[in-house]
Amino acid sequence: MRGLTILSALAAVASAQKVKVLPLGDSITDICCWRGFAWAEIAKAGLADQVDFVGSMTGIQGRCNAPSGFDPNHEGHSGWQAYDIARDNIAGWMQQSKPDVVSVLLGTNDINIGKRDATTIINAYTSLLTSMRTANPNVAVVMSTIIPMRWDDATAAAVNKQLPAWVQQHNTTQSPIYFADISRTTGFTTDMLQGDGVHPTIQGDQIISNHLAPLIIEAVTQLK
Ligand SMILES: *[C@@H]1O[C@H](CO)[C@@H](O)[C@H](O)[C@H]1NC(C)=O
Repeated sequence: MRGLTILSALAAVASAQKVKVLPLGDSITDICCWRGFAWAEIAKAGLADQVDFVGSMTGIQGRCNAPSGFDPNHEGHSGWQAYDIARDNIAGWMQQSKPDVVSVLLGTNDINIGKRDATTIINAYTSLLTSMRTANPNVAVVMSTIIPMRWDDATAAAVNKQLPAWVQQHNTTQSPIYFADISRTTGFTTDMLQGDGVHPTIQGDQIISNHLAPLIIEAVTQLK
């Protein structure tokens, strides 16, 4: 009895020491497949038992063929905008899931639905970052560009052009920001989008994972 209690206490400690990673995004995170591909990379790096994907949402589409052991938690919300999440949701989500690492893939709906301009979107990112750091001063952030879309690429391009300087401006040793440039510049083409012109195909999801997974792994490794 006592031995078992000690064992379960040890198991609790081991799981408490996992690095919590929050995949934050819109439908590209919710209903597309990059999380499954990224998990495969995390497993390949030998980190499957040391990473805990967190977030109030669960699941991944069957077509994604997520690898065995895949951790389905996330905070991807279809149709949602960075602007609204920064104002209404991020503080609560940070309290709920207490992530060590947040990967951010947002902005597409700010353009398509919100018709927001580049400056407003960049300001929303700053507001997100401030809330994340208020909740966890040591949070590591994997910040992505907006992936190309078939229309209003000009606003996406304007945001993406400003992001490297934004990252440098806000990067700190205590709360590092890693930058994923998933844009035309690095080979993401509109051929990697589904018919709706917004959501990645499986090939596009693989490209997104190729960018995000190594940075998530780097962030996790730095925190171990
Ligand atoms: C941010 O700073 C960390 C070190 O604190 C560094 O590892 C990382 O590469 C920097 N990010 C960028 C995009 O330069």
